[in-house]
Amino acid sequence: MFGKRSAVSELPARPAASARAPSPATVPVPGPPAASRLATKAEPAVPLSAPPTKPPLSDVRSEDYYAVKTTIFNALIDSIDLAQLAQLDAASAREEIRDIVNEIISIKSVVMSIAEQEHLLQDICNDVLGYGPLEPLLARDDISDIMVNGADRVFIEVGGKVQLTDIRFRDNAQLMNICQRIVSQVGRRVDESSPICDARLLDGSRVNVIAPPLSLDGPTLTIRKFKKDKLKLEDLVRFGSISSAGANILKVVGHSRCNVLISGGTGSGKTTLLNCLTGFIEQDERVVTCEDAAELQLQQPHVVRLETRPPNLEGQGQITMRDLVRNCLRMRPERIIVGEVRGPEAFDLLQAMNTGHDGSMGTLHANSPREALSRLESMITMGGFQLPTRTIREMIVASIDVIIQAERLRDGSRRITHVTEVIGMEGDVIITQDLLNYEINGEDEAGRIKGIHVGTGIVRPAFWERARYYGLEADLAEALDDLQSAGSLR
Ligand SMILES: Nc1ncnc2c1ncn2[C@@H]1O[C@H](COP(=O)(O)OP(=O)(O)OP(=O)(O)O)[C@@H](O)[C@H]1O
Ligand SMILES: [Mg+2]
Repeated sequence: MFGKRSAVSELPARPAASARAPSPATVPVPGPPAASRLATKAEPAVPLSAPPTKPPLSDVRSEDYYAVKTTIFNALIDSIDLAQLAQLDAASAREEIRDIVNEIISIKSVVMSIAEQEHLLQDICNDVLGYGPLEPLLARDDISDIMVNGADRVFIEVGGKVQLTDIRFRDNAQLMNICQRIVSQVGRRVDESSPICDARLLDGSRVNVIAPPLSLDGPTLTIRKFKKDKLKLEDLVRFGSISSAGANILKVVGHSRCNVLISGGTGSGKTTLLNCLTGFIEQDERVVTCEDAAELQLQQPHVVRLETRPPNLEGQGQITMRDLVRNCLRMRPERIIVGEVRGPEAFDLLQAMNTGHDGSMGTLHANSPREALSRLESMITMGGFQLPTRTIREMIVASIDVIIQAERLRDGSRRITHVTEVIGMEGDVIITQDLLNYEINGEDEAGRIKGIHVGTGIVRPAFWERARYYGLEADLAEALDDLQSAGSLR
């Protein structure tokens, strides 16, 4: 019933390219070289089963496995009508492919165990219908990042540790094809003429592609996997990223509508923390979020989500973060959340924080709270605002209440290392005070870093009055006391 399936055993001629034009989502790698077309029954059997001394081929993804897979894949492409395949839903398409592959395997007398055959079928279905070798990685929820450096090297980050996998792409052309497939789903394009592209997978994962000639060893694909179940503050407490007293301080900070900057290195958990803090926004507040790629998951009903847009191929139509933040101000927001502050939008965010949008938040890349302040200052200076340094600093002091520093430690764990208040100016210098620090005091036998969140002895933070206004001063006092006693037990 389906396409040219009945013709498999007769070695059909390849249809004209126009007749096979499939949808972008199902375009497989370009057609096979003539030599690798489907073999007849007369051809010698392709040995897939490894000699007994070797581990199963499907486990090690050996050269032989890839050779057999390529042969069968090429035969499959010769045998199916991709345009028709594109009409089917995923489950039926998978079923069809399985039937044809099974037929090819028997015609070509490929020797393989049931398990190997199942593995091969899975791989081929992923190639034709999904994101090929990436599929098994995308299906895992314990992976936070997937990093593909050309066809042969795929790294993942699991539990804060980066590891090399045995996943490989057939060649850079297949990898490029998959990159193209990913970005085309959000209406973008990546090729030699526009080799850098940001996109998103349908599940919300953040994707970056940089292709040759800019990346020298083949296309480079980076995916920040979208966690279906976002971490909550309780999870961070459970992981030891913050102590429960520290989490109580963050709750007061969130509920009492402090303006917060979350600072940290790349992958340190800034967005996760921002997402946790948005949990303290009241249900009736109008919130506008601005992000480069929507990652935040706010639970409140009155949220407007905005996303920036890169320029099109003619270099037009770009909408920057600054455009979004400025536009926000005309949308009657009660709080503004900026996914990542990295340019002149810093000025607009500070202005917003300063003009009645209390409880606004943003993240930025910096290695310490002090560095976060100087980065903010340089973003404003480099944005072309002709303001004296002192004025910029005064603006920062008037706007930012609390800086939370996130860090990914060398053992891969993530910790909140500082909760710091911005309290004022002395001369030309911004004065800050830490409420909480993370003190490292060694390593356990497994190499995991041991440490403790300690208070710094501050009993009346600068946002005390604000907490009092929201009826939270008792909670704040209790959390500070608990922090202090945790520190004195060390
Ligand atoms: N405290 C934590 N404990 C364990 N895993 C965490 C923690 N915080 C974040 N993660 C995980 O680490 C990964 C990176 O987190 P996140 O996206 O929040 O980092 P980021 O600092 O915003 O990164 P980037 O700089 O790339 O934007 C995610 O997979 C997230 O689930
Ligand atoms: Mg982030």
